Amino acid sequence: MNLLIIGSGGREHSLVWKLSQDERVNNLFCAPGNPGMREADLVDLAVNDSAGLLEFALSNDIDLTIVGPELPLVKGIVDEFRASGLLIFGPTAKAAALEGSKLFAKEMMQKYSIPTAKYKSFENTAEALDYISDKTVPCVIKASGLAAGKGVLICNSVEEAEKAIKDMLVDKVFGDAGNLILIEELMEGEEASILVITDGQNHVILPSAQDHKRIDDGDEGLNTGGMGAYSPAPIVTDDMMRIIESTIVIPTLNAMIQENNPYTGVLYVGIMMTSDGPKVVEYNVRFGDPEAQAIIPLIGIEFLDLLLASAKGDISSITLSENSKSSTCIVLSSGGYPGKYENGMLITGLEGNFSSDIVIFHAGTDKKESEYITNGGRVLNIVGLGDRLEVSIKESYAAVRKIDFKGMHYRNDIGQKGLMYIRNNLT
Ligand code: AMP
Ligand code: GLY
Repeated sequence: MNLLIIGSGGREHSLVWKLSQDERVNNLFCAPGNPGMREADLVDLAVNDSAGLLEFALSNDIDLTIVGPELPLVKGIVDEFRASGLLIFGPTAKAAALEGSKLFAKEMMQKYSIPTAKYKSFENTAEALDYISDKTVPCVIKASGLAAGKGVLICNSVEEAEKAIKDMLVDKVFGDAGNLILIEELMEGEEASILVITDGQNHVILPSAQDHKRIDDGDEGLNTGGMGAYSPAPIVTDDMMRIIESTIVIPTLNAMIQENNPYTGVLYVGIMMTSDGPKVVEYNVRFGDPEAQAIIPLIGIEFLDLLLASAKGDISSITLSENSKSSTCIVLSSGGYPGKYENGMLITGLEGNFSSDIVIFHAGTDKKESEYITNGGRVLNIVGLGDRLEVSIKESYAAVRKIDFKGMHYRNDIGQKGLMYIRNNLT
């Protein structure tokens, strides 16, 4: 088989790494990819160049295309490939509205009684400001459209909420994505990421994960794309997973069928474990980054079968092989990220002696002569595997300490919430 993966980050490197191990794969392309993806042939096409990507897939006999980021999905790349008779893994544009329009997702959850935070939507500034009072804060104010993960503001006071409303509706800090905003009740609890592969009707749930969104230890500092993840997340016990499956996953897939908008591909459900039970924070229509980097190394060789069967429309015969390992992914970021940072720092230690339980995925790197340099906010993902979470954490940090570049930053507490949960629930 010939495969094309679309995207360039650590998530896509984990897809490339996994699929390159499958003997059925002849040619593996990644567009545009990054120079750390030694397992793939890089194709110089941007993720949003759907016409170029389609032409490439047709002329290179691509048997399956896998889309990493949300933007091409929301713009309809799956519809375009399917119209040309090509197999592609992901949802249609109409189904990708689950991420592309937070209002669409919320209305669906409300209509089908899927547990989530209460909300109101506003396009009118005066009406939104009018709604804010001592009774409605703390709250979460969100741009409905795609805002590259930045359009969510947690507001603890009336002043903060008023500022957020004006920033979005008047000053358009998130552009058109903020023409319509949601004001949500603030949910409290730990978050977990549940990724489900589906053909629309049947589903396979991947090992659970937990992300670390803030830049600094102890969940301090600015929000980022994700500074690390571990899988599985002990807080998602088998019982909890069954509750999430029956109250959230199955109702969501059924709702999409009811709406004549069946969802195919991977559905990422961000969950808040509240004292009232698990509730949906958001849907994403793609693999999480860095969740994918932690989860994918735990999946067996059936991974390609799952993706292929989802693209073909029937995954009912596929099950995940037993997995007893844990993984921890540490993100190494550029100094200054998620604010301003400089590229071009020489990365040392990548050719070091790593144990066989370490996998390194490149995210924001470039190559200068024969050396890797930094080329992005999130630079590298160091993934450690182990029989237990604690072992995987130790493995990954031991590897992290071998790598260096000027300004390198990482969190020291990836996985600690998971260890805490295990300690507190020892019977
Ligand atoms: P989103 O882009 O919708 O995932 O939001 C980004 C982050 O904001 C989430 O991962 C949560 O940490 C937080 N968040 C979003 N909505 C809520 C909510 N209603 N209550 C509490 N936290 C939220
Ligand atoms: N890690 C969060 C995301 O991929 O959106």
